[in-house]
Parts: sequence; C-alpha cells; structure tokens
Amino acid sequence: MEATIIPDRLNHYPVLLKEIISIISPQYGGTFIDCTFGQGGYSKEILKFPNTKVIGIDRDVKSKRIADQISRNFEGRFFFKNIKFSQLNNLKLKNENIKGVIFDLGYSLNQMRDDEKGLSFSSQGQLNMKLGLNDFSAKETINKLELDDLQKIFKYFGEEKEARTIARRIVNERVKQDLDTQSLVNIIESVKKRDNSKIHSSTKVFQAIRIFVNKEISELIYGLINATKILKKDGILAVVSFHSLEDKIVKYFFRSLSENKSISRYQPKIIQSEPIFFTKQRKPIVPGEKELSENISSRSAKLRFIIKKKNFYNFDTDVFEKFQSLIEVENISNKL
Ligand SMILES: C[S@@+](CC[C@H](N)C(=O)[O-])C[C@H]1O[C@@H](n2cnc3c(N)ncnc32)[C@H](O)[C@@H]1O
Repeated sequence: MEATIIPDRLNHYPVLLKEIISIISPQYGGTFIDCTFGQGGYSKEILKFPNTKVIGIDRDVKSKRIADQISRNFEGRFFFKNIKFSQLNNLKLKNENIKGVIFDLGYSLNQMRDDEKGLSFSSQGQLNMKLGLNDFSAKETINKLELDDLQKIFKYFGEEKEARTIARRIVNERVKQDLDTQSLVNIIESVKKRDNSKIHSSTKVFQAIRIFVNKEISELIYGLINATKILKKDGILAVVSFHSLEDKIVKYFFRSLSENKSISRYQPKIIQSEPIFFTKQRKPIVPGEKELSENISSRSAKLRFIIKKKNFYNFDTDVFEKFQSLIEVENISNKL
C-alpha cells in the first residue's frame, strides 16, 4: 500500500517520512518504537496501517498533549513515554516483536519557536536550550564554565573557528551582567562581524551549546546500543541525522556491527565476531528536490538504516572509545 502523506505546514514537517515508511514497511504490521515522537508525524503515519502498534518516546513533556490525543484515536495501539532514548532499556517490552526503531534527531519547528526553550538565536529571554529531562541549562553553561571549557564546547560541538575569542569575550562580559540569549548573540556578532559566511554568525555556537546541554553525543550512543538490543530478527534500525557529528556516530556504529561487504582500509575495526546487522544501502538517503522545495530545514537530513540478521542481544562495541574526545567534552558538565 502506498502511503498518502500530506504535511501540515503550520506544524513540524516530518523529514523523509515517505522514505522512512517505505523502509520500515508497516503494511506488514508489528510494533515500532518512535524514539523521537515530537509532533507525532512518523507515529501517526505508521498507525494508519492496521495491525501496527507504536511506542512513542520523547524527552519533551510538551509532546504528551499530542500523544494523549493519538492514544485516544488509536486505543490499545499507541503508548507514550516521557523518557530519553538513552533509557530505552527501561521500557517493559515483554515479548514484543519489535519490527522497527526509528530516530529523527534534533528538535522540531515547534520547539525552535518556543521562546521558553530558547533554542533559536532570535529567542528573547533567558538562555535555556533544555529539551526536557536535563540536569543543567545553557544559562549555567555560559555563566559558570571557565574559558578553556567554553572554548572546547564551541570547537568540538560547533566546529567554531573563533571558539577561543568568543569564549574569552563571554568570560569578560559576564562579570558585568548575567548573559541572556540576545547578549550572547551580540557577543558572537561582535567577534564575527567580518565573517562572510552564509549561515547566521551564532549558528555554530548555538548548536554547540544545545549538544552540550542535552548531552546529545552519549544520548545517541546509548540510544543506538539499546535499540540494537531490543530489535528482533529482520527488525530495522533507522536514523535521520542533521549534523556531521551525529552522522559520523551513526555511520560508524552501523558499519562496525554490519556485514563487511567491501574491504576498505577506512572501514571501522569490526570487533564483533559475528555481524549483527546487514546493510542494503551504504550511502545515506537525502531529501529529494520536492521535499527541499517544501521544507528547506530538511536540507541537512541524512537517513541511514540497517537490518538485524538474527535475535542477538549481547554484543561488543568500541563506539565509546572511538568518540572518546567528544565524550570528554560532554563530561565538562560534571563541573556544573
Ligand atoms: C525532529 S523532532 C522529531 C519529529 C517527529 N519525527 C515528527 O514527525 O513529529 C525530534 C524530537 O526528538 C526529541 N528528542 C531529542 N533528543 C531526545 C532524546 N535523547 N530522547 C528522547 N527524545 C529526544 C525532541 O524533544 C524532539 O521532539
């Protein structure tokens, strides 16, 4: 059955939805875990197929209102949990036949527009950036951490070339006033005023702080590990990523646990004696021209998926060692 997909332009536009549906094949029924429920774009599409069940997860409690509505419309077929996907292993799944686990990383348009969350550099008000279930905010990060630590966050999580100068200016300014979103934007602009880049001068620093505040690196790694454990044979693990750090982690994790068809010296070290997954597509799937013309924010989306070969739950992975330098930057949060 071909899914008819009509995006709602006022709400979040579910990225690569048609492609996700065609990969996970809900027409054959089964249980799916939507690890980034958001506005429910993927979940609702899956539930259109009879004999499907969806467990939706989101760290943002604001997703619960939409989730409650879907639960009423699909009684006994949809369940929502306000947890982080690193806690996937806390779901009591009994003997569920998990056919697919999907991740659509990042944040939705509605979250971006939420001034209280302060994810956007046009937000007015306090620095925050917490998506939900966080231990600290952007306000504490910017107002409390030392120069060297701020520099590392901007450099590693934002690839910001002016990381040190921006960090130094923040440290100098914050003794005069508590910094809020717009004062941070002004500091960044004052450092990067001669920057001719096409992206907004605050994009990289804001991305870096969001990754740090939401511990996006370890969240993703634990999410992938737990998803691997709960999937059944032939189950599909699919991830849509939006920035290069996410995609690097997903790509490495997938390759290191998959059948190694082409021998390359760039291949990750396979430490798992028997591959758990196989891949059909080595290159990521990206939005086509039609989607790009309808939703420009999808331009950096990359979809990768792998298929589980058999019921296999204990496995070794060196993904934490591989991304040790990023985990160390994330651990700067222990100082807060
Ligand atoms: C891009 S949106 C997903 C949109 C969704 N696919 C849709 O169609 O409405 C990403 C969602 O993932 C959630 N999220 C991000 N990191 C998370 C994590 N570690 N655990 C659980 N949810 C997370 C965000 O709160 C956000 O609602």
